[in-house]
Amino acid sequence: SDYETLLVEQRDAVTLVTLNRPHALNALNSKVLEELIQAFRAFEADDSQRCAVVTGSGDKAFAAGADIKEMADKGSAEMYKADWFSGWTEDFTRASRKPWIAAVNGFALGGGCELAMMADFIIASENAKFGQPEIKLGVLPGMGGSQRLTRIVGKSKAMDLCLTGRMMGAEEAERCGLAARVVAHEKMLDEALEAAATIAGMAPLAAIANKEAVDAAYETTLDAGLKYERRLFQVLAGTEDKAEGMAAFVEKREAKWTGR
Ligand code: HXC
Repeated sequence: SDYETLLVEQRDAVTLVTLNRPHALNALNSKVLEELIQAFRAFEADDSQRCAVVTGSGDKAFAAGADIKEMADKGSAEMYKADWFSGWTEDFTRASRKPWIAAVNGFALGGGCELAMMADFIIASENAKFGQPEIKLGVLPGMGGSQRLTRIVGKSKAMDLCLTGRMMGAEEAERCGLAARVVAHEKMLDEALEAAATIAGMAPLAAIANKEAVDAAYETTLDAGLKYERRLFQVLAGTEDKAEGMAAFVEKREAKWTGR
């Protein structure tokens, strides 16, 4: 691949993106952001690609945070003017509507934990360590740590993590709903790729609709969310893939999706 900070490969319908700055524990700098947006736009545009996995290179880290060395001498005027971190929470999260999984192989701290939480779900190695240690640097999370983490694990655990800056292991992360699955370290990436391949085998529009509907639960009242879910169901009812999926079930055969 032509990226400086990422390795991007296609495995059938799954795009595997590996954060590749192992010397800095895959710390997230502006170049990583720029390239992740580029990689996700390419993933979105390529109809052959249906699900992505993001992981970290090396055995130690998914990503140890935003790049502290890059931020160290930036002041408020500069950060406010550039709307620092908005590239992560806005441009990156909007670069693709397709599902993606964070395969967390080690440290996911600060921005690393926040990036993992931008994924549709997290599969964690038993070595994974999650945390929002920004308070120890005299700041606070900047790309969703105080917001996404609180919605996912609740106020008490989010306060504990943000205020003490402590790290949380994979089992605790699964127990509190941050990680969907915990897997033995050596098997973690294979399991994430397998989950991605399963998703990639589903009707593409149904994958997008399921993702949008679950995401809507975080944005709306129950009443509005139920209506949104119903409307998406009604939209999918008109697709070729719905007719094919239901016919295949009745005829006891595998469905062949067209994406229409
Ligand atoms: C830049 C980083 C980095 C980071 C690690 N490195 N984390 N560089 N930004 N976030 C670099 C180290 O400087 C070092 O480079 C190399 O990676 C290896 O790290 P070590 O510290 O030597 O490894 P180890 O002793 O095993 O400790 C691992 C660690 C520690 C516990 C994960 O690296 C650590 O605490 N990192 C910082 C975690 C953090 O605070 N993240 C939040 C960042 S703020 P050299 O060149 O010295 O060998 C954030 C949100 C932004 O993400 C909001 C604020 C405005």
